[in-house]
Amino acid sequence: MRIARRIESISPSATMVMKLKADELKREGKDVLSFAVGEPDFPTPDNIVEAAKRAMDEGHTRYTAASGMAELKEAIVEATTRDLGLDYEPGEVIVSNGAKHSLLNIAMTLVNPGDEVIILSPYWVTYPDQIKLCGGRPVVVETRGEDDFQPDLGEVRDAISDYTVGILLNTPCNPSGAVYEREIMEGLAEIAIEHDLTLISDEIYKHIIFDGREHISPATLDGLRERTLIVDGAAKSYSMTGWRIGWVLGPAKIVKAMGALQGQSTSNPNTIAQMATIEALTGPQDSVSAMNEQFERRRDFVVEQLSAVPDVTCATPGGAFYAFPDVSAHYERLIPGVDEDRSEAMAMKLLGENLISVVPGCAFGADDHVRLSFAAGMEQLEEGLRRFARAFA
Ligand SMILES: Cc1ncc(COP(=O)(O)O)c(C=O)c1O
Repeated sequence: MRIARRIESISPSATMVMKLKADELKREGKDVLSFAVGEPDFPTPDNIVEAAKRAMDEGHTRYTAASGMAELKEAIVEATTRDLGLDYEPGEVIVSNGAKHSLLNIAMTLVNPGDEVIILSPYWVTYPDQIKLCGGRPVVVETRGEDDFQPDLGEVRDAISDYTVGILLNTPCNPSGAVYEREIMEGLAEIAIEHDLTLISDEIYKHIIFDGREHISPATLDGLRERTLIVDGAAKSYSMTGWRIGWVLGPAKIVKAMGALQGQSTSNPNTIAQMATIEALTGPQDSVSAMNEQFERRRDFVVEQLSAVPDVTCATPGGAFYAFPDVSAHYERLIPGVDEDRSEAMAMKLLGENLISVVPGCAFGADDHVRLSFAAGMEQLEEGLRRFARAFA
């Protein structure tokens, strides 16, 4: 059977591939410790689970509006005012099956074949593939560990062409943990206005932020609200990865167009999960700060341990729950003869010989690195980092 060309342009998600490999070894009885997948290890808070049970008991088991329930849109609007100080109308909100789906809806709605979207590397694995799926071209601008992965505005400017339609930002960033500073955000805002670009702002980690840093949504900057699409979701902040609820806030015209697409593709996201997300957003928020405190404590431990490994360098993540050490000084010695996708060979070696699963940096456009998620208990982190240190000793 024939496969359409658009599918040939995309590759399987590296995080999913690593998870499958680790699961395979686990089934063989190997004591694999997984630091590959990006999901909080905490259970979904009780009040949210109870809200889902109540929703089922009360018969909320039918279709809702394709773009999401009015009550959930109201809750998203309310939470956005609380968290970002921004006022939106429910007509400027669309709820989808997770932020990944929201991002695909954006790409499908914004990108014509031949259009270019600037993404900053290291980038989340899915961005380039979704742009390619729509016939667009991801144009990569590199950020570097020695600059704390803050973008160089000159390099962003240089990447703009007549075909550029937008810049995709992710702060706090998966995988680098970078939280973009205010001057950087203001510089990017200036560039977007000057070149009439849309800013796609993936803010899914906005509540997971350390050392009292400030999360800056571009939509809060002068003149930017009308050209920003905020992407967010319940997965990371409320430990609701499996519930599959994400959303976009942006100008009504594009939100309506995305709604038309969703109406003809998936219809509404799961009704019960939508009801649970209303509770997540409007109920008590203490679990969000409690999880953040745990992540910050683990971040400190992980960075300290990684930095103690000879010739491994690790920028301190300002948010999200990933460490992104540069392990390239060990490539010659540990994986001699490999000269392409070396981080993949390294990750395979770590999995096969040391029974720790990490994601190769090449999947994020940064082959000198591997990504370790610290969304794991302290005991697992302690043992995992012992194995990591042993692997590079
Ligand atoms: C940067 C980033 N954006 C979006 C997503 C997707 O989130 P969701 O589970 O809501 O689809 C992830 C999940 O790992 C992510 O890391």
